[in-house]
This record gives sequence, structure tokens and C-alpha cells, in this order.
Amino acid sequence: MRVCIFGTGYVGLVTGTCLAEVGHDVVCVDIDAAKVDGLNNGIIPIYEPGLTPMVRANHAAGRLRFTTDAASGIAHGDIIFIAVGTPPDEDGSADLKYVLAVARTIGQHLQAPAVVVDKSTVPVGTADRVRAAIAGVLAERGADIAFDVVSNPEFLKEGAAVEDCMRPDRIVIGADSAAAIDKLKRLYAPFNRNHERIVAMDVRSAELTKYAANAMLATKISFMNEIANIAEQVGADVEMVRKGIGSDPRIGWHFIYPGAGYGGSCFPKDVQALAKTAQQYGVQPRLLDAVEAVNDAQKGHLFELLVRHYGSEAALRGKTVALWGLAFKPNTDDMREASSRRLLQQLWGAGAKVRAYDPEAMRETQRIFGGRDDLVLCDSANAALRGADALVVVTEWKQFRSPDFALLKASLADRAVFDGRNLYEPADIEAAGLAYYGIGRGR
Ligand code: UGA
Repeated sequence: MRVCIFGTGYVGLVTGTCLAEVGHDVVCVDIDAAKVDGLNNGIIPIYEPGLTPMVRANHAAGRLRFTTDAASGIAHGDIIFIAVGTPPDEDGSADLKYVLAVARTIGQHLQAPAVVVDKSTVPVGTADRVRAAIAGVLAERGADIAFDVVSNPEFLKEGAAVEDCMRPDRIVIGADSAAAIDKLKRLYAPFNRNHERIVAMDVRSAELTKYAANAMLATKISFMNEIANIAEQVGADVEMVRKGIGSDPRIGWHFIYPGAGYGGSCFPKDVQALAKTAQQYGVQPRLLDAVEAVNDAQKGHLFELLVRHYGSEAALRGKTVALWGLAFKPNTDDMREASSRRLLQQLWGAGAKVRAYDPEAMRETQRIFGGRDDLVLCDSANAALRGADALVVVTEWKQFRSPDFALLKASLADRAVFDGRNLYEPADIEAAGLAYYGIGRGR
């Protein structure tokens, strides 16, 4: 099938590439000429396992093209995806200016009936606004062309996006017309083998489904972080509690890992946007507000542990802290809303220096914080330890899981390890002669 995708960011690029991979004919449109140029030359702007070879192979096969020419993309697509960004507005609601600009562009160039698909995460009611924007421009043109607007939210995880896209656990399609649902079912047929993955519903339910999924996952994390804080005070180990509750299938093992707070481009933004929607419709989002507040506090927890260890914030002045992990989670270079950013600011605010290492996010760190005297970017985890007083682990990269304990002891002048993701057994660190602080592991 002939597909056009607006936006070659995370969602658009992965979706377009996976659709090409199963044989569809895909044109991706982006206003960023340099990015389009790069993509046509096999340069992929994001780090995502498996994506680069897949883009290159499908581009070489002629099934995946990149252009800045919206008109040609729209002429190509029987199905036109909107996968542009929805950054948070001042007040936490999603800013739809890019989505609606694409809708108007579609209205300007549409020549034949098409299905327009909202793929970006957009508030309930956006499909109606997209429909109105397209219809408005068509009316100005005096053009009478039939089109459908469908909500088809994505459930990709950064770091596993290609895998999630190729093997989705569900494909949510929200549409008001049977013909549009049918068309999307044909598009997704190659991903729908072995058992039925398509869940068809009305547009607004599909839009809300996306927010409900992310808010539920964020709630699980904030819940566990709150339990961790209680465990810390009552002298319990939250890791034991986690094991004690996860085996109940109603609770489950996933997303109950306490830590330094959730980050990324999705959970923080989506929880706030859903709360905003609730308020706009007269519902007080008590739980969502609490999920957000707990997470915000949790991002400051590692710093509180450092202050507890050193006795006061003032005692951190002149200290050098080794920081392992800058990305908001492993297998990505993405630092949006990362907990490391809060910690860096707090450490610098207290007059401490930081020696930082992340397997993928060094370039991004340089872009955001480069040029500071109190930040040294290191080229390995062990290099970050050199001359440091204490170690803080913020991101749960696999390569941080088995450190050389003797080297830690020899390197860290103050012999203290702050484990923001509970990667280590306290006993192992303590046996090596270092003080251990985890999340929710007694006092
Ligand atoms: C999230 C959802 O997991 C995807 O299903 C969704 O499609 C995506 O948002 C989106 O809306 O586009 P993502 O933001 O890539 O995906 O990241 P996650 O793997 O969900 O991790 C989010 C954060 O939660 C990370 O900072 C991670 O460290 C933290 N986390 C996760 C915990 O603190 N504890 C856990 O148990 C799990």
C-alpha cells in the first residue's frame, strides 16, 4: 500500500521503516532539509537498535523515501500518517501546532480520497480538530474530496522501538468508518499474524487508550517509589517487597522497579497532558497529580541521600562525584526529562564537580551542558571514577551491573556508592569496604 508519513522523529521514522520492511511503499516528509538529506544518505539522527540497517536496506530497495516536498508525499499516500511532535505547552497540555499545521498542509494538497491517521500522542478530541482543519482548507479551495481521520496511537518503547513495531502486542485503531478500519487492517495485516492484535474502537476511546496506558505505567512506578520511601524509613528492603508482590499476576513483574524517577519524552508529558484534559472536562485528576508529584520528588532523592551521607549540603562543596548514566533509561541517548539532569543541577548548585559517563549519551550531554568547568565528560565508566570521591549510578545500563568492587574502593576517596537503580546487592558493596545507598533499602 502507498503510505505517506509526516515527521521523521522517533515515531514517524520507526513506523515508516517498519511499514516499508513488510513491503509497503513509504514516503516520509519532514520540513528539516538537513535531516531529510542525511536520511537519504543513510544517516540516522537517533540511536535505536536495529534501525539503521533497516532504513538503509529499505531505502536501497526503493520502498522508503525521504522528502521535504509535502505535495508529492500527499499525492503518494492512500494513507497519510501525522507523526510530528507534540511538545508540552506552558501549562502542561500538549501543543498541537505542528499536528494542525500538517492537517492544513494535507488540506492544501489533497487530490484524492485518503485516510489520515493521527499517530502522534494527542489529547482526546484532536482527531475532530484535525478533521475540521483539513475540511476548512478543502472548503477554501472549493474541493470536495472525501477523507477519514483515524486515531492509531503508538506503543513503542525507546530502545526497543523496532522490535515493538514489528511485533506489537496490540494495534489500536480508532475510527468512525468501517471502510477506514478496513484499510488500516489491510495495512497492518503483516504484523497481525498468529493471533488477533487489532483492537478497533471509536476515535475518542483510541485517543484516551494511549494516555491511559502511559499513565498506568507511570502510576506503577510512582507507587513503587512511594513504597521505597516508606521502606527506607521503616527499615525494610523494597527489593524484597518487589519480589513479594510481583508474583501476583494481578500486579505483575513489570514497571515495579523503584529508582531515581521516570523520565523521557512520554511519561512526564503524557501524565501532565492527561491531567490537563481531565481538568478541562471538569474532572479533578487527583491520582494523576499525585503520580507526577511523587516522580518530581523522586528525581531529587539521590541528592537527598548524598546530603544525608555527607551531613549537609555545604559538605558537598569541592567534592567530585562520578556519575554513571545520563540517558533517561538504557539503550538510548535520549536525555529528555532524565533524572540525571536534576542531579547534575543539584550537585553543581552545592558546589560539587561531576565526572560523567554514559555509553550513548555523551554527545547529547556535551550539547546540553558542554563547556562547564564543573563537568568532565569521561570516555569510560572507570575513567569517571578517577579522582572521584563518591559514585552515583543514575541509569541502569547493563554494563554498570558488575563493577570491579576493588577498583571502586581504590578510586573513591570517600568510599560511598549511591545506587539510583538498585543494581547492586548492598552486602557486596559493603563487603568491598564501601558505604551503600540504594532506593528504599533501609536506612
Ligand atoms: C513509554 C512506554 O513504555 C511505551 O509503551 C510508550 O509507547 C512510550 O512511552 C510512548 O508514549 O511513546 P519510553 O518513554 O520509551 O516508553 O520509556 P520506558 O521504558 O517506559 O521508561 C520510562 C521511564 O521509567 C524510564 O526513565 C525508566 O527508567 C523508568 N522506569 C521504568 C522505572 O523507573 N521503573 C520501572 O519499573 C520501569
